Amino acid sequence: MQLSRKASLKAYNSFGFDVSAEYLVIVKTLDELKGALGFCAENKLSLLVIGGGSNLILTQDISGLVVINRIVLKQVESTSDGDFLVTAGAGENWHEFVRWTLMQGYNGLENLSLIPGTVGAAPMQNIGAYGVEIKDRMEYLDALDRESGELCRFAAGECGFGYRDSVFKRIHAGRYIIISVTFRLSAKVGLVLDYSGLSAVVERQGIEDPTALQISDLICDIRRSKLPDPEALGNAGSFFKNPVIPEQQCAELTRRYPGLVSFSDQPGLRKLAAGWLIDQLGWKGHRQGAVGVYDKQALVLINYGKGSGGDILSLAQAIQASVADRYGVLLEIEPRTYP
Ligand code: EPU
Repeated sequence: MQLSRKASLKAYNSFGFDVSAEYLVIVKTLDELKGALGFCAENKLSLLVIGGGSNLILTQDISGLVVINRIVLKQVESTSDGDFLVTAGAGENWHEFVRWTLMQGYNGLENLSLIPGTVGAAPMQNIGAYGVEIKDRMEYLDALDRESGELCRFAAGECGFGYRDSVFKRIHAGRYIIISVTFRLSAKVGLVLDYSGLSAVVERQGIEDPTALQISDLICDIRRSKLPDPEALGNAGSFFKNPVIPEQQCAELTRRYPGLVSFSDQPGLRKLAAGWLIDQLGWKGHRQGAVGVYDKQALVLINYGKGSGGDILSLAQAIQASVADRYGVLLEIEPRTYP
């Protein structure tokens, strides 16, 4: 186990916040993870586990131990009904894993292409894009229980998945460390093209009968045109969740603001496009010191280099206040703030 002291976390969070960890360890196997947890317990340290660090706002230097989960593994098992149960280690890069599955002919994750982060972090917030969420494709995950030291298996139905939500963010926060995730994939999985004009894009490109790999390519193009590459501009993807409000409130808002963008949700509810609300208030491209709002997508906040977690949170508060003031809607911050 390679332990560093007073190590910078700049390379381990996609905002690129330059805070340090009292202790830092990168684990590549379950045994190394157990070793790190042992060190943590012996020295009574607090623990932060980071995957890709792409959904994290680090607000100050971190005391205790930071574990970078780089557990790698790929396993495939075929089922009697012709599907494939494909398992990936928590530390695998999400997008590289998605592309690997598609190259093998295992379809199903194409709409989730180019989402930053690792496989293990994906179920924490039930990542989703273009009409598919991880809950639609996941079979089960294995996690280490910090209380008992045992490995536990959670079927997809036991993860309490919701919109960017799971039990691992709520009642089980801090208890389980995800080790691997298993997906049910298949050559037969139908393509999901009904989200926000995706099928129109396919048609415009003149692609007949697209393959899952072609859909992945297309989604990569769309994402690259709207979302900044964290390697070039520090960010955490969508900074706010799209707010879900009662249908009646949505109807009233639409009467007052006819361009309002909303989507159907559970019965009686509508999901608003937070990006539209923020955009209408003129925030797109706004800069506040070293941080700002991305000029192509108002839902994305940027660290231009020297910004801090505090700078991002104060910009976020200003945006929340202006949206609440105009539309009476509360925007919930999506990434996790630590500590
Ligand atoms: N919009 C604006 N102005 C903006 C941004 C968006 O008017 O600056 C409007 C768009 O015109 C569109 C609507 O808002 O009508 C929705 O925009 P978009 O399709 O870009 O999606 P989003 O709601 O902003 C969500 C997810 C993304 C996911 C995309 C595609 C959340 C919080 N975000 O974004 O997920 O990739 O849909 O499915 O649900 C992430 O979670 O980090 C993320 C990037």
